[in-house]
Amino acid sequence: MLLRPATPAARLIAALDLPSLDAACAMATRLAGAAAVLKLGLELFTAEGPPALAALRARAPVFLDLKLHDIPNTVAGAVRVLAPRGAAMLTLHAAGGAAMIAAAREAAEGAGAARPLLLAVTVLTSMDAEALQGVGVPETPRAQVLRLARLAMAAGADGLVCSPQEVAPIRDALGEAPLLVVPGIRPAGAAPGDQARTATPAEAVAAGADWIVVGRPITAAPDPAAAARAILASLPR
Ligand code: C5P
Repeated sequence: MLLRPATPAARLIAALDLPSLDAACAMATRLAGAAAVLKLGLELFTAEGPPALAALRARAPVFLDLKLHDIPNTVAGAVRVLAPRGAAMLTLHAAGGAAMIAAAREAAEGAGAARPLLLAVTVLTSMDAEALQGVGVPETPRAQVLRLARLAMAAGADGLVCSPQEVAPIRDALGEAPLLVVPGIRPAGAAPGDQARTATPAEAVAAGADWIVVGRPITAAPDPAAAARAILASLPR
């Protein structure tokens, strides 16, 4: 099982949000030595399926970000199939509820010590207070993240995905137990794109993030390896 990072070099997850395995492998090659973990998300998994997981895990531990969200039986079935395939981390939506998360954990246990860490996505980093209200949640993003964080950890998640802005509140409320994986990362001056709740890599780690997930600021940079190394160099020791 993937260990909690102890050094800056272990903290960077590069999001390979690319349309083909060829493009993802080419990017992984450029980022070798800088990205400790490779994120395989919906775009690439939809295009290439499980062979993408097999190819990427030969290079580095894989964060399989499929954000599962369905009835407990269906999610458990998907986790049972995915768990032995060697992803280091797998995501599911905390909003699926305690029974869904507990069913996923039980299914993951079937893969024994090789099972992926289960990370519960709290509130997407692209959502602000107005977007939350639009889906019927009157809480602030912070309050909703804390509610879902407590629920997910009690139900058996190993950790959480949250924006940098909720890292410190989660550490205050839940201590060191949750592994915290944090997207919504933007180096100073980088375009936010569709991300709403952002901070710099250094701010996220100083607040208590274990891993940071960075996509476009690396993959769209003229020199992705240099961009990744600059992010690592900016992190607190
Ligand atoms: O390109 P960018 O740095 O915005 O990519 C962030 C990555 O983190 C994307 O792959 C996205 O799917 C993922 N992510 C996120 N917000 C979450 C969970 C995952 O942005 N709450």
